[in-house]
This record gives sequence, structure tokens and C-alpha cells, in this order.
Amino acid sequence: MRSLRSLLRPLLVIGAVAGAAVLAVPVALGALGLIGWVDAAALVLLGALGGAVFVLALGLLLLRRTVNRLATSVSTVMDTHSRRVAETLGRDRLEAARSMDGVKERLTHLRDHSLPKLTREVTHAITVQGRNDYEQQVAWTELREHLGTPTFMPPLRGWAASPDVMRLLVREIDRRRPELVVECGSGSSSVWIGYALRRAGGGRLVAVEHDARYAELSRALVASHGLEDVVEVRTAPLTEFTSGGEEPEDGAEGAGGGPRQWYDTSVLADLEGIGLLFVDGPPEATGAQARYPAVPALLPHCSEDVVIILDDASRTDERALGDRWLAENPALRRTEEAAEKGAHVFTRS
Ligand SMILES: C[S@@+](CC[C@H](N)C(=O)[O-])C[C@H]1O[C@@H](n2cnc3c(N)ncnc32)[C@H](O)[C@@H]1O
Repeated sequence: MRSLRSLLRPLLVIGAVAGAAVLAVPVALGALGLIGWVDAAALVLLGALGGAVFVLALGLLLLRRTVNRLATSVSTVMDTHSRRVAETLGRDRLEAARSMDGVKERLTHLRDHSLPKLTREVTHAITVQGRNDYEQQVAWTELREHLGTPTFMPPLRGWAASPDVMRLLVREIDRRRPELVVECGSGSSSVWIGYALRRAGGGRLVAVEHDARYAELSRALVASHGLEDVVEVRTAPLTEFTSGGEEPEDGAEGAGGGPRQWYDTSVLADLEGIGLLFVDGPPEATGAQARYPAVPALLPHCSEDVVIILDDASRTDERALGDRWLAENPALRRTEEAAEKGAHVFTRS
């Protein structure tokens, strides 16, 4: 707008000068008597008209030039913007294409390596689980038939011992006919062991339990199967345990930190001649190598031909505490039994 105004300004000046000349010349000619006043007026009119036409034409010309210049600059600006937009889009497309290449590479790796590996692992896990389920089903059926149990039996597996370990225990009871079985950690197994002892024709079970509520539950379970004459559930709260071999170095695998806890041994002081010791408690959550004290505390109360069965032996902690038992008792021998959660059998040579 400003440039239009600056173009109009000289036009106005020229118009004013031309207008003044057109007015002055006929008036001067008229005044000198060279032409008549009518002719002078006609000349003024004609001059004004011509001047107006000239000014208009000039204005139009200038307006066209301005519009042309404006159009050129608008198209330049548009070109620059379009170029920038195209460049930006091109860069983005390039980056997108590059990142797509990365995604493609990762997808290819996933398809060629990770997925087959995952599929193999899942297939393996399903196969192992299926085999385990079958093994436990077989063991469960064998146990029931062998012991002639009632239809409704306490569940095995999960928090309780698995059927394959129960079958191992029952075989040892049949073979050795122990007079006294001690079980660390009461529950379903207390009932199953009770049936095994009854079938073997003698012997009793003392199931040691640190948790008073579970002790009560286990007692009720034993009573509901009418096994009170065979199975005794003793509540022995966890207290500090001091005797036993040297503690492993702190930080070593399976090392115990802080004071070690185990069942209150005063509750077990009367137990003598243990022929079978089933170590299935205290739960691992109660401390590192929570089951280690079983041997230092109870081996002096065991018969010479005792058999000790350690459940959950696939766990690092259980293997480590078994190693300590062997190191501290050179007469002990360990046999590893194939079982769902791992079972280690210790005997004296
Ligand atoms: C590893 S579990 C095994 C108990 C037992 N030896 C068995 O196999 O059934 C050890 C602990 O589980 C807890 N427990 C007992 N009865 C339970 C139940 N019905 N549900 C969950 N935990 C139980 C007790 O504190 C027990 O000492």
C-alpha cells in the first residue's frame, strides 16, 4: 500500500503542473487577444480532459506494473515455501524410510531368531509340564491304590509335597518300617504318611509345625482321617538356632545373614531313634538355608540306618545346605532322585 501511495504522489504532482499549464496557457492566449475567451475556455476544457486521460493512463500503467511486481514476489515466496515444504517432506520421508528399515531388520530378526527360540522354549516348557503332570498323575494313582486311601484325600503338589516325593516316602516306609518318622513342616503329607505307617503296620509320625494356625489345620486334617493314633502334630515356633557347623561366608551363594531361626528344639528333645526324617520346612521365606539346622539338630536323635529326604532340592539353597550337611558329616551320602521339585536322599554309609 505504501509503494502505491509513493507512486501516486509524483502522478499528482505531474497532474497538478499539467493542470496549471492547461489552465494558464489558454488564459494567457485569451488575455493577449490571440484567441477568443470561448476558444480559451474550450482549450482549458480539452486540456483538462486530455490531462485527465493522460493521468488515468499513467496511473493504470503504474498500477499494472505494481500488480505485476506483487504477483512476481508472491510467486517467489510461494516457490520458496513450496521448495522448503518439499525439502522437509523429503527429509521426513527419508528418515521414515530409514526407521522402517530398522523396524524391518528387527522384524526379520524376530522372525528368524527370537520367535523360533521362543517357540522352542515354550514347546519345551509345555512338554516338560505335560510330562510332569503325567508323572504326578501316575504317582497319585499308584499311591491311592497302594495305600487304599478313601476317595477324598488332602491335595498334593503346590505348597504341599508332590505325589512323586510322597511315593518315595511311602517306599522308604515300606522298606525300612521306621518306628519314628519326623516331618519338618506339617500339612497334607502328614495324612499321607499316616496312611503309609498304618499300612506298614507300625510306627508313628511327629509332624513339626512352626505356625500355630497351620498346626491346628493339620491336626484337624489328621483327625478327619482318624489318624490321631499314628500322627502327632507338634507346634514348635521358630527361635534362634545356635548350634551346628560354621556359617558360610556372607555373600556366598546360599549364605545366611543374621541370626538363623529354626523350630524350638526344646519341643523335640524327647524324640529318639528317628528312622525317617522328611525335611519339608520351615518355608524358604523364613530365611536363607532355612532347613539347614534339621541335620545338626536332629541327626544325634536318629537311628544309625536313618534315611533323610530333603524336598525342593532343585532349589539353590537346598543344594547348598545339603553340601554343608555332607561336609560336616563325612558318613552321610547323598542320592539325587528324579522328582518334580527335586528330592535328595541322605543315608549313612
Ligand atoms: C512346604 S509346605 C509343606 C507341608 C507338608 N510337608 C506337606 O507336604 O503337606 C510347608 C509349610 O506349609 C504350611 N502349610 C501347612 N498347611 C498349609 C495349607 N493348607 N496351605 C498352605 N500352607 C500350608 C505350613 O506352615 C508348613 O510348615
